[in-house]
Amino acid sequence: MNRRVEIHINKDKLESELSELAAFSDAEPPAVTRIVFTATDLKARAWIKTRCEDSGLAVRQDAIGNIFARWTGVEPSAPTVGTGSHIDAIPNAGRYDGVVGVLGGLEAIRALQEAGFRPRHSIELLIFTSEEPTRFGIGCLGSRLLSGTLTAEAARKLTDKDGTTLEEVRRKAGLDGELEQVKLPPGYYKAFVELHIEQGPILEREQVSLGIVERIAAPASLRVTVEGAGGHAGGVLMPDRRDALCAAAELILAIEQAAQRSGAIDTVATVGICDVFPSAVNSIPAKVSLSVDIRDTSLPRRDAVIRALEGACRAASAKRQVEIQCELLNADAPAEAAPAVVAALRQACEMHDFDFMPMTSRAYHDSLFVSRIATMAMLFIPCRQGYSHRPDEYASSTDIARGALVLAEALAMLAE
Ligand code: GLV
Ligand code: MN
Ligand code: MN
Repeated sequence: MNRRVEIHINKDKLESELSELAAFSDAEPPAVTRIVFTATDLKARAWIKTRCEDSGLAVRQDAIGNIFARWTGVEPSAPTVGTGSHIDAIPNAGRYDGVVGVLGGLEAIRALQEAGFRPRHSIELLIFTSEEPTRFGIGCLGSRLLSGTLTAEAARKLTDKDGTTLEEVRRKAGLDGELEQVKLPPGYYKAFVELHIEQGPILEREQVSLGIVERIAAPASLRVTVEGAGGHAGGVLMPDRRDALCAAAELILAIEQAAQRSGAIDTVATVGICDVFPSAVNSIPAKVSLSVDIRDTSLPRRDAVIRALEGACRAASAKRQVEIQCELLNADAPAEAAPAVVAALRQACEMHDFDFMPMTSRAYHDSLFVSRIATMAMLFIPCRQGYSHRPDEYASSTDIARGALVLAEALAMLAE
């Protein structure tokens, strides 16, 4: 390649595509809600596929709906250089999470095409299915399956809140083929780079333009079900109660304390859902279901919080005479970025005199699972006040374009 040719990111086009994609939403703007395999999500997928085809990329979709848009290299059988992210969005989200990595990745490829670059390795944009856990309770469905982290058999058992299986939902979305076929063959990737908003405040606070992610924290999700005894809020005397919500309240605080006790900034724990049954003002809670999310860059520290939760369940059960079930839904290992991919990103920043810093991702990403089968690193751009998963999530078009430019340079280095 003539690497002296300047790579030009079309900032206006990228910004207008971000707005167009944000319009595929089940929420009032500026909020974006795009749950996997809803009619809205399917329209957004069709839109992005057309965008990729318009750029001359060969588009294929696997049985879980991961979309691969390929720019075939001079050596088509050489391992692929991948980039990408997700376009599904949690309820009441913003427009940048995931989308910046997809549209920024597409623009990076277009910029390389326009600069006359001829990749030796094929470069592929990947739009992963259901990075968000909203519908099936477990995140990164597409990347778990393609990396073999989740088996087809386990995936088939997943259901949404209406009890509809993933199998039914995906077939209804027109995805035929068997989930067994989603796993990529060994050696498929040469390297993978994901561009993403930081989803935290550090870059903005430190006034640094870019973050090069060197490790991704490992999430564990648990469902805790507490069964006590319901009854009349007036009639049942306090000494006779087996209130499931009071027991759950003890657990929620125990989880928070266990994360705080770890003393490490990377240990975080959240109870994000508390479903109370029967949820009536004058009825003692008979049953409570909690969803728990625990993360760390250190597996032993993360698992210590899980054990503390299990201990708190035993203690609350004995103290309050309630039944408690603690079910581990997933417990993933953290990932380290690959030095060679980090080096490509650093070199790309240096080529343009962009300032950058090493970072840890405390959010998880599809790259966590891609790391099981490929060398990977991530590139973060700042987002206003670190806001994410909320409608006022914002990244400036200048920051997005800068990220896309560094991504393009890194892809070129990795693919030549
Ligand atoms: C991904 O969205 C996460 O929850 O980290
Ligand atoms: Mn997200
Ligand atoms: Mn994301």
